[in-house]
Amino acid sequence: MNQQTVIVLDFGGQYNQLIVRRIRDLGVYSELWPYSTPIEKIKETAPVGIIFTGGPNSVFEANSLAVSSQILELGIPILGICYGAQLIAHLAGGKVQTASAREYGKQSITYSPSPLFENIPSDNVCWMSHTDYVAEVPAGYKVIASTKTCPCAAFANADKKIYGVQFHPEVVHTANGLDILKNFLFNVCEAKGDWTPANFVNSMVEQIRAKVGDKKVLCAMSGGVDSAVAATLVYKAVGKQLTCMLVDHGLMRKNEADQVVRVFRDGLGMNLIKIDAEERFLSRLKGVTDPETKRKIIGEEFIRVFEEEGRKIGKVNFLVQGTIYPDVIESGFGDSAVIKSHHNVGGLPSVIDFDEIIEPLRDLFKDEVRRVGFELGLSKEIVMRQPFPGPGLGIRIIGDVTKEKLDILREADAIFREEIAANHLDEEIWQYFAVLTDMRSVGVMGDMRTYDYTLALRAVTSIDAMTADWARIPYPVLERVSNRIVNEVRSINRIVYDITSKPPATIEWE
Ligand code: XMP
Repeated sequence: MNQQTVIVLDFGGQYNQLIVRRIRDLGVYSELWPYSTPIEKIKETAPVGIIFTGGPNSVFEANSLAVSSQILELGIPILGICYGAQLIAHLAGGKVQTASAREYGKQSITYSPSPLFENIPSDNVCWMSHTDYVAEVPAGYKVIASTKTCPCAAFANADKKIYGVQFHPEVVHTANGLDILKNFLFNVCEAKGDWTPANFVNSMVEQIRAKVGDKKVLCAMSGGVDSAVAATLVYKAVGKQLTCMLVDHGLMRKNEADQVVRVFRDGLGMNLIKIDAEERFLSRLKGVTDPETKRKIIGEEFIRVFEEEGRKIGKVNFLVQGTIYPDVIESGFGDSAVIKSHHNVGGLPSVIDFDEIIEPLRDLFKDEVRRVGFELGLSKEIVMRQPFPGPGLGIRIIGDVTKEKLDILREADAIFREEIAANHLDEEIWQYFAVLTDMRSVGVMGDMRTYDYTLALRAVTSIDAMTADWARIPYPVLERVSNRIVNEVRSINRIVYDITSKPPATIEWE
């Protein structure tokens, strides 16, 4: 990309991704880089600004995360946040000390006139979370904000365009936090604000065209937002040179596979091959009840189908993947325990004969992917679609999976989704779906005894699916959903609502 960039150097703070997102939301492209990135690489990239994040360290610790003080001499504007501010003070010869008590939470703060605080009320509120503090600013720097307990809540060397703030402008509790970041970007860095969906689409289409030339591209579409947007972007760039494959494993929601075909093949004119693989998936799943075994079978079968279909297509030059930025950061910088073996199309590269992967969304957060989707003209139906797991309804049926149960679940789930949308709850709820349990209980319908399945409704609010809370759906909506399902769907005579958060529960039931 040739747009202006702000590099956020990661010193391990908990809000680091948030800083990158805020910068991008303000229209400036930003990336999170490890603190240990060589200065040379930073110079080559020539960012318009650099941000040092907060972090759990103290600058006094022998193994504290640090950068070379040369970074202060590059002539590039810098904003240090919390630990990042202490680090600037430390590197530039100021004095950092450890307080006897931690300062935590909302604090009153007074800002002095500074390009960083332009158009912001001087008596204000900020969010603090620190024990160390800057006791003396380095030569050439001056204090530009203070709180009762922290006399140097912000400092600056305006000539060098280097700023440090002890508080966290990126969190919503800092009243004018976003304005401070905006001032840093536009007053201090003099950024142009060229990070827009339209610019992204134009420049990505050009890049893809240049890379692909007249060669062949293959994309596995799942019906999910990421693969849909990635495919559309590549289609815009190279048209019919792209072939998309959609494996219908029979575990999709009601009408889902048909919708993908309607939108992308019939509507946009894409070269889309739909593979009906319901029978082979169901026969392999027959009698299997263990959740992890189900997941493994579905994942393996996916790869097998692609392998066979890939052989028919023959050699392709490029394989498109819908990888997005959080996947990149997570695989590059951290580690997490495997609670469930998530399966996407990750195993594809090993079975398709191709030369290179194209990941057009690699730099984007989910909300940016959605904006790009709209920019490409995709409908709300596709772009705002809730996340759906690769193994599909296979992990929303407790116990063994059969066609009969899938059909029951599909109908019930469709009613739940219809009612959520009709009541305009779809934007505030992250994910909402039905789960068919393997429990049966006694009911009465008309004058008849019934002995049927219990269906569970799951709806959660979340930001990133790492943690979640159960959604407080209004009772009248739940009541209507319940009435409709027991009346319209056979074999269900009891409905329960899942009121557990994550943790301790997970979002999906298996
Ligand atoms: P859990 O159930 O672990 O789910 O709380 C967190 C989020 O991930 C989705 N999920 C999956 N997504 N492949 C996916 O692409 C999977 O195998 C998978 N399993 C769970 C889940 O729907 C929720 O959004």
